[in-house]
Amino acid sequence: MMYQEIYKRSIEQPSEFWKEQANNLAWYKEPKNILSKNEEGYNQWFEDGTLNLSYLCIDKHIEDGYGRQNAIIYDSPVTNSKEIITYNRLHQEVSKLAGVLKEIGLKKGDTAIVYMPMIPQAVYAMLACARIGVIHSVVFGGFAPNELAIRIDDCKPKVILTASSGIEIDRIIPYKPYVDEAIKIAEHKPNSVILYQRHLGADTPGKPYDIDYLSAVKTATPADPIEIESTHPSYILYTSGTTGKPKGIIRDTGGYATALKFSMKNIYGVEQGDVYWAASDVGWVVGHSYIVYAPLLNRNTTILFEGKPIRTPDASTFWRIIEEHQVKVMFTAPTAIRAIKKEDPNGEFLKEYDISHLKYQFLAGERCDAATLKWTEDMLKVPVIDHWWQTESGWPMLANMAGIELAEVKPGSATFPVCGYDIQIISEEGEIVPNGTEGYVTVKLPLPPGNLKSIWGNPERFQAGYLDRFPGYYFSGDGGYKDEDGYVFITGRVDDVINVAGHRLSTADMEEIVASHSSIAECAVIGISNDLKGQIPLALAVTKSDNNIAESVIQTEVIQDVRNSIGAVASLKQVILVNRLPKTRSGKILRKLLRGIADKDELKIPSTIDDPTIVDEIKNVFITHKVGKH
Ligand code: COA
Ligand code: AMP
Repeated sequence: MMYQEIYKRSIEQPSEFWKEQANNLAWYKEPKNILSKNEEGYNQWFEDGTLNLSYLCIDKHIEDGYGRQNAIIYDSPVTNSKEIITYNRLHQEVSKLAGVLKEIGLKKGDTAIVYMPMIPQAVYAMLACARIGVIHSVVFGGFAPNELAIRIDDCKPKVILTASSGIEIDRIIPYKPYVDEAIKIAEHKPNSVILYQRHLGADTPGKPYDIDYLSAVKTATPADPIEIESTHPSYILYTSGTTGKPKGIIRDTGGYATALKFSMKNIYGVEQGDVYWAASDVGWVVGHSYIVYAPLLNRNTTILFEGKPIRTPDASTFWRIIEEHQVKVMFTAPTAIRAIKKEDPNGEFLKEYDISHLKYQFLAGERCDAATLKWTEDMLKVPVIDHWWQTESGWPMLANMAGIELAEVKPGSATFPVCGYDIQIISEEGEIVPNGTEGYVTVKLPLPPGNLKSIWGNPERFQAGYLDRFPGYYFSGDGGYKDEDGYVFITGRVDDVINVAGHRLSTADMEEIVASHSSIAECAVIGISNDLKGQIPLALAVTKSDNNIAESVIQTEVIQDVRNSIGAVASLKQVILVNRLPKTRSGKILRKLLRGIADKDELKIPSTIDDPTIVDEIKNVFITHKVGKH
């Protein structure tokens, strides 16, 4: 069957379609009730089914005779080490760690935070939680203690699993001291911290709540997977929203497993046993779904890469890994490709490697510009597939479904809706717009399996942020349009979320920190276009009238405050002090106008602007400071 036919069926007969997909998993209890409403009236999938993600990712394959197949290839140029972990070994590691969690009192429904670099123990930790029904929340290592503390207070973990340190190219990241600091700041105190010692640098003094990972695992009794309801949360993953407070996206278990399994064959064109590589981080949704759960569910070999596309040691690393581990399908962010292209525009490194095993290159995480797409196609000589999704969805919403039928690629478009997603472009007034017209990108309900259940501890935000805007539709937060052939083009966020080097960040979060500087009266943080990172943040601030601190001091302090508070990943490098900010007559800051001026877009000056002369004033400031395209 071809894409159109399969897609149509997935939309017209969702229950039948997803029941068939669910049959590809080994459930303990097969679901009969496929699509129903939960107590709050939201759609839920496979309500009466029971299963276990850890069992499906590990034990099932061993039972089927594949225990000696490689499950994980850990490739770490930053520590100059590699390790191969078979499914048998993964079983040992995960069941022992799950045993440790049980012994310290964790049980189904408890929460645990995982704050770890890209090491196998991070994957063991996630799967150990899943094995006994503990809901994990992995926090990206680039976030500072303050952000970690916010997440600790929100999901109240009984335990934090961490490592002594990580490495960013050539710099040690002190994970354990960050955890200690976060626990100090947070109101909620976890009972214990399971610490994996890497011995990469100076070890920090122990704390009473520390448990040594290796010693604990050595003596633990392995734990078997338990039967878990399909609707039980598998994890909470925090992502940036339009306020300073991150939102904890809740993922279910059975819908997620079904969707991921379906995606591996039908979107990525991957067969069981293939080597699959998503060059992301376990702290992001891409890492959850396509470094850990989907490839392991599908009995693939997944690559766990602790490095960067460049400088570890150079722009050849991706090609070396593809050759060495015979990667069939790879997934990265356009920004990583742009970084490689900048270092090696003519692909000299590529000539040294045999990448003939590679069948598809997938890109996501941010808009893929036509030049990056073309360069990648020219270099790799395989289909390069831009696909669109988000933390909330957990798996792709728009893609060229390579495993079903490869469509012609249109640069700038992530191609067609994935099976199960009835994507509609809607106007401000809530009407579906004609093809060619830009609007809000939505999904007509029900969302297919795998999508967010709600927001942890804040169901009102789930309802208000995603469902209230256009009743009957899920609102993605992105703008876009469909062309005459039904290709969907995503044009970018319509809210205050920005995308920096494939990392999703909130400008509202940064604004709160900038505004709290003692010299600053008010500020705006906007995302401006950047050739390498897609977008970077820029802060514009007005100082208090009695300020007597030098401009350069304020700038340095503000940059440092953001780094200390959010983390290096925020990448705020430029703060400009201005006399005033553009506002509406009612006093609202016109951030979209600021963005437009920085990016030299065709300007639509809102009729509500208080004083139009500010536009030229800001333009001149941007020219002086060489902001964006000026
Ligand atoms: N732990 C600690 N710090 C981290 C970190 C981590 N896991 N990840 C990033 N950082 C730090 C970086 O060291 C950097 O610090 P600096 O300002 O002191 O140099 C800062 O956060 C910004 O990092 P990044 O945005 O990654 O920029 P970069 O200049 O170091 O690297 C790229 C640029 C393009 C090579 C890099 O961003 C990249 O590989 N991007 C791909 C992202 C990706 O795969 N995203 C997943 C979506 S699919
Ligand atoms: P995250 O939740 O961190 O995965 O970020 C999701 C956001 O990244 C989306 O809402 C989009 O704004 C953006 N994004 C992800 N993939 C794409 C893509 N292929 N094209 C355009 N934008 C994308």
